[in-house]
Amino acid sequence: MLRGGRIPYLEGVLAYINGAAAAFHTPGHKQGKGAYAPLSLLLGERCFQADVGDEVGGGEDRDALLRRAEDLAAQLYGVDRTYFLVNGTTSALHGMMLGAFAPGDELLISRNMHLSAAAGLILAGVEPVFIPVKWCKNLGLPLGWDLGDWQRAGEEHPKAKGAFLVYPTYHGFCPDLASLIELVKARGMLVLVDEAHGPHLALNSLLPPSALELGADLVAHSAHKILGALTQSSLLHVKGEIPPRLRGALELLLSTSPSPLLMASLDGARAQMEDGGALWDRALTLAHRARERIESLPGLSICGPEYVEEGMIAAWDPTKLVVSVKELGYTGWEAADFLRRCGIGVEMADWWTVLCLLTYADGPEEVDALAAGLAKLAATPPPDGGAGARRLAGLDITPPAIPPRSLSPREAFFRPRSKVPLHRALGRIAAEIIAPYPPGSPVIIPGEIFTEEVLEYLELLKMCQVKVRGVDDPALAEVAVVA
Ligand SMILES: Cc1ncc(COP(=O)(O)O)c(C=O)c1O
Repeated sequence: MLRGGRIPYLEGVLAYINGAAAAFHTPGHKQGKGAYAPLSLLLGERCFQADVGDEVGGGEDRDALLRRAEDLAAQLYGVDRTYFLVNGTTSALHGMMLGAFAPGDELLISRNMHLSAAAGLILAGVEPVFIPVKWCKNLGLPLGWDLGDWQRAGEEHPKAKGAFLVYPTYHGFCPDLASLIELVKARGMLVLVDEAHGPHLALNSLLPPSALELGADLVAHSAHKILGALTQSSLLHVKGEIPPRLRGALELLLSTSPSPLLMASLDGARAQMEDGGALWDRALTLAHRARERIESLPGLSICGPEYVEEGMIAAWDPTKLVVSVKELGYTGWEAADFLRRCGIGVEMADWWTVLCLLTYADGPEEVDALAAGLAKLAATPPPDGGAGARRLAGLDITPPAIPPRSLSPREAFFRPRSKVPLHRALGRIAAEIIAPYPPGSPVIIPGEIFTEEVLEYLELLKMCQVKVRGVDDPALAEVAVVA
């Protein structure tokens, strides 16, 4: 049953449970016998039984089962190698950078990178050449980039080894990746894509094309964000030649005890997506219905199509419903609070929008619930008569220009550091990443210099109580600088 199995790793876990040997091995809870009762109540007995460590397969070689499961995922995505990862796309990005580049290598990288990509630069000692991002100034949404900026960067840095970008963005916006890949491949560069939010693109031809179809070399997928895998489970795909250090880099980064629950969830999510065409057809139909209903409500609109029409992006993923609440006099954060009180949890909120994801797991009831919650929002005056929105309305919410840099991210990270109050940081070199979260694109990274514009923007984030990641002090009273 196991060898030719359709879900080899998952079946391996089942084989162990069904074999039920007396366990004189890890984990210490011994298949749940020693589980803390409230935890067992939360997770269920089965969850502990499945937490079987090295014994997956009940005698079969765990690594062989894993490899078979990874090969099936590679087949699904039409790639040469897929790796299952248990530290999210974070580890995929770190692995890509450590595996494909050496310290000092230059990498063209779009500035809307996630902070885990910035961490990858530090780990790998890579020298970034940043490509600025275009913004919707009205709503403060990151869009794409100008191809001309990549072209210029390629000419100015002819030795750059690769190009790294996020596609689609958190909001489902897809810049013109086909043209970019053509441009950078002509320069012999490797194309690395953070497709954390797009593992479904390759599964349905009505969605924007996936980076893999467009010719990217290394692509990361957060299977846990969009598909049915458990949180932290991601995929790293390689098309073409596997960078010689990649496997070794992943060995450096990943646990030697990957959770069987997460691995089995990747195997199961992959098997489920063998039927991805139909599953995502359904999600698309729902998304189109949801869009019509939301746009029929006064003061609400869905962002995306107009950016395509205006040529700001090449395509847009309709399953990411970016709802603008600006016309209602709400901020995005206020709208998210209101919706939470109506029992609707959104993926993220920011200045003027809330982002709601629809996936293959949703049905008409979810669309009804969302439309009803948004209808209530549209019919309810904003808090304090709209004072929050009025306060924001006059402000420039576009992030600052990419700050000048005087040290490589790695060098700055490892230099002695000190803390200074934020208002004293002007002209100092950052020693930490500061990234509003979500979506987690850094305003400044180690090695870059605090400019007035950066400080003003960070003060604005503080005023709006935007969460930041990467820092020692999330309140941003103090920031870490190179001593
Ligand atoms: C664009 C992007 N890349 C990478 C990551 C990190 O992914 P993970 O949470 O799977 O580690 C995120 C997380 O939100 C993300 O939004």
